[in-house]
Amino acid sequence: MVKRAMIGDVLEGRHSGKAVELRGWIHRTRSSGGIAFVLVRDSSGVVQVTFDRDELGDDAFQRVEQSGIETSIIVKGVAVEDERAPGGHEIKGESMKVVGPSKNFPIGRDLSDEFLLDVRHLWIRSQKMTAIFKVRSTVFGAIHDYFRGRGFYEVQPPMITPAGSEGGATLFEVDYFGRKLHLAQSWQLYAEAMVTALERIYTMAPSFRAEKSRTTRHLTEYWHAEMEMAWEGMETVLKHGEDLISHVCQVVAERNVRELESLGRDVEYIAGIGPSFPRITYDEALEQLRSAGVEVEWGKDIRTLEEKALAKSYDKPIIITNYPKESQAFYKRTDPEDPDMVLAFDFIAPEIGGELIGGSEREADLEVLKANLLRQGEDLEAYEWYLDSRRYGSVQHSGFGMGVDRLVQWICLLDHVRDAIPFPRTLTRYYP
Ligand code: 4AD
Ligand code: MG
Repeated sequence: MVKRAMIGDVLEGRHSGKAVELRGWIHRTRSSGGIAFVLVRDSSGVVQVTFDRDELGDDAFQRVEQSGIETSIIVKGVAVEDERAPGGHEIKGESMKVVGPSKNFPIGRDLSDEFLLDVRHLWIRSQKMTAIFKVRSTVFGAIHDYFRGRGFYEVQPPMITPAGSEGGATLFEVDYFGRKLHLAQSWQLYAEAMVTALERIYTMAPSFRAEKSRTTRHLTEYWHAEMEMAWEGMETVLKHGEDLISHVCQVVAERNVRELESLGRDVEYIAGIGPSFPRITYDEALEQLRSAGVEVEWGKDIRTLEEKALAKSYDKPIIITNYPKESQAFYKRTDPEDPDMVLAFDFIAPEIGGELIGGSEREADLEVLKANLLRQGEDLEAYEWYLDSRRYGSVQHSGFGMGVDRLVQWICLLDHVRDAIPFPRTLTRYYP
């Protein structure tokens, strides 16, 4: 019995000279002069299999020639080294069994982005998409390892919630047996309750934002890695942000060399991302933007366009600290040295722009927190349970949230965040 070989191992020469069985899908077929060249892919790579008409017989050879792209097959043959073959290794095919036929696979060359989104369920098989999803898998694993290795507990917040934390404009409504509830924008309120129990916590979960903005950074459903720490201020969690992104980059640069190269990404660049990151204040950011000809009114949020302008002049993520209170969510702590400011920070991706991380120290004072809520037009009653975290043993605490899809987008240097996730949800995309 010949055992199944993974194509990645064949390409590394681990089966050279041996009989192997491959299981996979036809990537492409061509034939010339009585030889058929079939590119076969499995999850680990693509290898060329050659079939000789004389050895295979006319009928079987014709079946090979006529099998369409994405036909699933089982191939038996011998692995050989061959300089002429793509990847330097190939299989001398002895038999090919069709498992599932495939006729007229709809994806060929030069198709529009819109069409590829319509057939996303098939496009995910492409070399580009599988390379991205392998990087993505590494990124998720590295985030878990980072937090677990530093004494954080993983917790799971609810996704159906009565009140939001990041402003009403981007809340999705859910009809909950006739009541109006919302999909979670963040674990924020629940984290602030949980942190008094477990002190160091993190989660990775979907967050939902009814974003009407058509940018290359916004999804309506995205994956959010969030952390929260009791007894710590902004400086500590900001350091964790630097260390977390650096850790993820190191692990990806180690494990996904082939994928990064196939995406055209410079592996050395990703391997070189380490602390510390350049740091500027909000006021300095506005100053830099002004000298680049971009005017932002003081107090207003720095938006996608402006982030992009800033990102151009840095080769590491940029940290912006100390934001004006008026543009920021109610739970961020007022700067004790400047009542107009909050102790908040953002990390902006270099090269492409876009906020990777948003975080802050939290307002621990019950009365200030209530006043913030009222100023932002919130109904205190909806936040009663949350305010209990300040009524019963309130402590200093801080945390941040990182958009994991955006991190993948930057690491893989993708034009659009939707390509960082298998089935993207955007303003106009919810199928398939
Ligand atoms: O800055 P945001 O809105 O912060 C919060 O939700 C905090 N409660 C997090 C916390 O402190 N626990 O979102 C955090 C991050 C952003 O920096 C961005 O990377 C990502 O979430 N993000 C999105 N990613 C993709 N699509 C969207 N529509 C996103 N909105 C935010
Ligand atoms: Mg933000």
